[in-house]
Amino acid sequence: MKIKYDYSLVFSFFDWARLRKDTTLEARCIVIHIAVASKNPKIAHELTYEFWKKPNLDINVSFSNFFEQLVYTFKDWGSDPLVFDIFFQALVDVGYFDEARNLFDKMLSYGVVISVDSCNCLLSRSSNNMSDDGGIETALKIFSEFPEMGVCWNTASYNIIIHALCRLDKVKEAQSLLLQMESKGCFPDVISYSTVIDGYRRAGELERAFEVVEEMITKGLKPNPFTYNSIVVLLCKNGKAGEMKKAFALHNKMVQMGLTPNIVTYTALVDGLCKRGEVETANELLQEMCGKGLQLNTCTFNSLINGLCKAGNIKQAVKMMEDMELAKLYPDAITYTTLIDAYCKAGEMVRAHDLLREMLDKGLQPTIVTFNVLMNGFCMLGMLEDGKRLLNWMLEKGIKPNATTYNSLMKQYSIQNNMKATTEIYRGMNTQGVMADSNTYNILIKGHSKARNMKEACYLHGEMVGKGFSLRATSYNLFIKGLYKKKKFAEAKKLFEEMRREGLAVDREIYNIFLDLNYDDGNVETTLELCNEAIEKSLVDKNTKDTDQT
Ligand SMILES: *[C@@H]1O[C@H](CO)[C@@H](O)[C@H](O)[C@H]1NC(C)=O
Repeated sequence: MKIKYDYSLVFSFFDWARLRKDTTLEARCIVIHIAVASKNPKIAHELTYEFWKKPNLDINVSFSNFFEQLVYTFKDWGSDPLVFDIFFQALVDVGYFDEARNLFDKMLSYGVVISVDSCNCLLSRSSNNMSDDGGIETALKIFSEFPEMGVCWNTASYNIIIHALCRLDKVKEAQSLLLQMESKGCFPDVISYSTVIDGYRRAGELERAFEVVEEMITKGLKPNPFTYNSIVVLLCKNGKAGEMKKAFALHNKMVQMGLTPNIVTYTALVDGLCKRGEVETANELLQEMCGKGLQLNTCTFNSLINGLCKAGNIKQAVKMMEDMELAKLYPDAITYTTLIDAYCKAGEMVRAHDLLREMLDKGLQPTIVTFNVLMNGFCMLGMLEDGKRLLNWMLEKGIKPNATTYNSLMKQYSIQNNMKATTEIYRGMNTQGVMADSNTYNILIKGHSKARNMKEACYLHGEMVGKGFSLRATSYNLFIKGLYKKKKFAEAKKLFEEMRREGLAVDREIYNIFLDLNYDDGNVETTLELCNEAIEKSLVDKNTKDTDQT
């Protein structure tokens, strides 16, 4: 009692005592009171936490003992109700949420309300409680119940709940809390807004994210650069009519506010512009970047080069690659692949090949994309022998082709009605252990159907269905026609029904086949139904483009 005001002496004494033997709970509570009274809440918390984190605690007994002792020693040793807050926080920190809640209620019956900061600890910890699915629900429950008991939530409390709601993808509810906050006289801050913005951004609801940004700015709050940048990048990636404009508006606002868009933002803008063929504007933006002292990186250049290629300006793209080297930024595999692709598409295979050589000479490793681009080039130009040579070269060098590589070759061979060569390539694919994809099956079934190899087509179809792949409309049409020609009416009919069920575009020729079949069988009703459908569809067909990929 005498040394109670000399707290450092008390702590030394307590440390000394507990090294020798387990101290009594009463002694611990006394020291906790003294720590709080002497403005050492951290020590008080440590001492409380130390007790509660002990494993194998009988929670119920410990809780009533601890509470009893803390109350019993309260008057004589400190009389600061903060000890109960500290007790509450320690319980939360150890994860005893139910006991914390119990303490809250007990204190309330004494007329003491646990502080909002401590309640925030409970909100935050229970909403982040991963081991418990109901964690967030618990937090929401506390959030709605505590105000009735005198807790007055602050901005931090709202932010915890807003964050939790966003994590549950309930961004709209989170947003409505922003309004509710204000009506309670507790103003949303940068964190509140940014959390909602990021929630919308992650949900892909850019329109709404953008609205909240506007609202935030109106309120005189400065969005954080991270949120800003990520929205600009997303807007650009979407790259739709309209969205690029918004990206720019945001970008300009950022600059006005003195926030520096980073290189990623700029690159996204450049990329978005290039994809829409606005290479001029992209170039201007590059000047702006350089003016800001931002170091252009390889990605930025690659976007521009890609843009120039897409706009059909290969010459300028090649010049850009040279500029890149001047800027001591070395073209990478992506740069080369982009240019090789452009040359292939322009039918300039010699130049494409030269670039490949240059790339190899520089020690750059071509990727599977590079090879597929070349393969596609050869195939589109009907240079199938070269394509096959490329395939063999890849295999010799130990570069594994993928399904796309094989598909290019098979597609062209089957277009030329050379099912022997197509099958040979397919066998090679199997030997190499490359898995056939949906495209592979569509190509093969179409080819075999045209060649009336219905046995092969049926076999492959069975295999494809087993793997969960499905036929595209053009493949269906050819497959059905092939079956019909081989008088496999039942199979043909089954596929025809399937096609109609899936709402795929049926060829007029196929309709005619089934109209005739039904008419011959005397199914007048079905015949009429098909007739109507065919007429309806043929009207619709005129307005739909054939988007078939193979
Ligand atoms: C094969 O490579 C192309 C790139 O040319 C890629 O787009 C495709 O996803 C790859 N396919 C598989 C099955 O990995």
